[in-house]
Amino acid sequence: MKTTIYYFSGTGNSLKIARDIAEKLEECELVPIAKVWQQDQLASTSEKVGFIFPLYYFGLPKIVYDFINNIELAKSNYFFAVITRAGDVDGAPLQQLDNILETKTKTLNAGFFIRMPNNFIIGYKTDSEAVQKEFFENAINQVEKITNILKENGESFQNKTIISERMNKKFRDKVYASDKSFYANENCTNCGICESVCPVNNIVLTEGLPQWQHKCQQCLACINFCPEKAIQFGTKSLETGRYHHPEITIQEIMNQKK
Ligand SMILES: Cc1cc2nc3c(=O)[nH]c(=O)nc-3n(C[C@H](O)[C@H](O)[C@H](O)COP(=O)(O)O)c2cc1C
Ligand code: SF4
Ligand code: SF4
Repeated sequence: MKTTIYYFSGTGNSLKIARDIAEKLEECELVPIAKVWQQDQLASTSEKVGFIFPLYYFGLPKIVYDFINNIELAKSNYFFAVITRAGDVDGAPLQQLDNILETKTKTLNAGFFIRMPNNFIIGYKTDSEAVQKEFFENAINQVEKITNILKENGESFQNKTIISERMNKKFRDKVYASDKSFYANENCTNCGICESVCPVNNIVLTEGLPQWQHKCQQCLACINFCPEKAIQFGTKSLETGRYHHPEITIQEIMNQKK
């Protein structure tokens, strides 16, 4: 049975998981949400459809929320989600997904969470290398278990609670303008990487310096991939490290919007 996995990833965790799952499934294509989310007449043609993305404020990233509302899914009959997250609270995303699918007379059949290193460095410190290694090792086992369930079209949920939906809605309502807190300091070398990795083209270099265009998804690719640590978000990021998945390249993040 053909599978399409739609993925979104700011710093590579979700892309790595999507790639690993796709490799283990037969006839599976990977489609970046950043490339297709604004297309008219967006429709899935696969029988099996998966959504793989990071948890944002205990729920869906805005781009994922908008994309799934937008896509026509009439031809698909089995739906799954794999959500990467840094903490251990699942929140509302599976129920949110199920609710959106219900408006299309569909239902979510399986949903999983995989713990991965923290990329929310505008709020919390990065995980130590030892902790990151542990997450990566556990993820390999989880991917194995998840793909075995998916191959059988299994019905399986780790959690489907609806706590914190309100917090996620508040985040989605305000996220576009949240980039007002970003700035680049004197360490900037005008390399343009921040502009290139932004999955929604929210950064334009003006006289070599990044300017944020207020349609931000807060994926934090720009701040985490800047090689000079020149980008800050308010004051918190002055104290925190930077993170992106070690096996995912800048080019692969850039390719999301191609
Ligand atoms: C805006 C934002 C909000 C986040 N909110 C949560 C959260 O509510 N719970 C959590 O466990 N992790 C949260 N995280 C951490 C990410 O979900 C986690 O690091 C994820 O694996 C990043 O995936 P990516 O590398 O594919 O972008 C958040 C990250 C960002 C950027
Ligand atoms: S990635 Fe960093 S150094 Fe490069 S242009 Fe952007 S802010 Fe400047
Ligand atoms: S501006 Fe930065 S945080 Fe906002 S969407 Fe682009 S890369 Fe992500």
